[in-house]
Amino acid sequence: MKTILALETSCDETAITILRGRDDHSHELLASEVASQVAAHEKFGGIVPEIASRNHLIYAPRLLDRTTRAAKIDLSEVDAFAATSGPGLASSLMIGASIAKGLAIGFCKPYLAINHLEGHLLSPFFCGADCSGQIKPNLSLIVSGGHTMSVLVRDLAHYRLIGRTMDDAAGEAFDKVAKILGLGYPGGPEIERRARSGDPTRFDLPRSMPDSENFSFSGLKTAVRYLLPKIGEQLDGRVLADLCASFQQAIIDVLVTKTMAAAKKYRVDLVTVSGGVSCNEELRRQLHEACSRKGFEFKSAERWLCTDNAAMIGFAALLRFQAGFESQVTEEIDPNLALA
Ligand code: KG4
Ligand code: ZN
Repeated sequence: MKTILALETSCDETAITILRGRDDHSHELLASEVASQVAAHEKFGGIVPEIASRNHLIYAPRLLDRTTRAAKIDLSEVDAFAATSGPGLASSLMIGASIAKGLAIGFCKPYLAINHLEGHLLSPFFCGADCSGQIKPNLSLIVSGGHTMSVLVRDLAHYRLIGRTMDDAAGEAFDKVAKILGLGYPGGPEIERRARSGDPTRFDLPRSMPDSENFSFSGLKTAVRYLLPKIGEQLDGRVLADLCASFQQAIIDVLVTKTMAAAKKYRVDLVTVSGGVSCNEELRRQLHEACSRKGFEFKSAERWLCTDNAAMIGFAALLRFQAGFESQVTEEIDPNLALA
């Protein structure tokens, strides 16, 4: 049995998880806490790094206390300490990594530096008590606020980047378009809510780079901006819902088409999706439907594991620890850490 304590502070969520893995590769989440800073950044329409890191410093010690009490364990019982070491905001990554390293040194236990994207990528396999811990080969679509990429996964730690965004990430496009439309931050949930009652065929928006394995969403955002003056004063509830639905469908079409093409080209049986944008019910539904049509198995991360959290970092750390990986405490954080 191995107990992992993991911190995630790559962006604006402070999160800590205590996860216990058994020898049969099942795992039990003993405690998981997230302190969201959305309210602190909302009025700026985006994340302010200085505010994020100060808040991590305030929240992390409190969460550490709360998670150990909820898990009913003492820090001395933890077998390894892990933290996200990149990619992300340098001043935010530093806080979580420093705490994990300090604990590892203080308790003479191993430290594991975890790539945030590997956390997302493995999150569809997080399944608790009846988990085999086996990472089946798959085509992984990671769609978050900072990243959009498709990755060919052969096994744990065997990843090959297939496509990535050339400009905005899918979540970033949701956030920027929400800002243009005067909706709140983060934009994804708000656009999804309005899109539910909208007509996705009302506005003809671009699907960029159709023949490439890479993605591009900034043209879509610009198209929405240019459309607004043409719509004029009538941006009422109905038109706004149609615009949100049309925009959301443009993103979904691109993600589904490219994912299906990559899954076929690289001959996998399984397609997985993770990251904040994969909270989107319509994206999950359409990806699932496309997979069923083309004969691929489909696995999405549970909704609570889609947006940033420490459980996915703890899970990646546990799988790595069980497989014999360990990091040096001298290993530095890397804001641009690559996955593959
Ligand atoms: O994975 P995440 O929490 O953070 C990053 O690693 O970037 O993703 C946050 C992103 C935001 O851009 C947010 O707008 C988007 O995920 N998001 C959604 C939905 N919920 C969150 N996008 C579309 N539909 C949603 N329901
Ligand atoms: Zn993320």
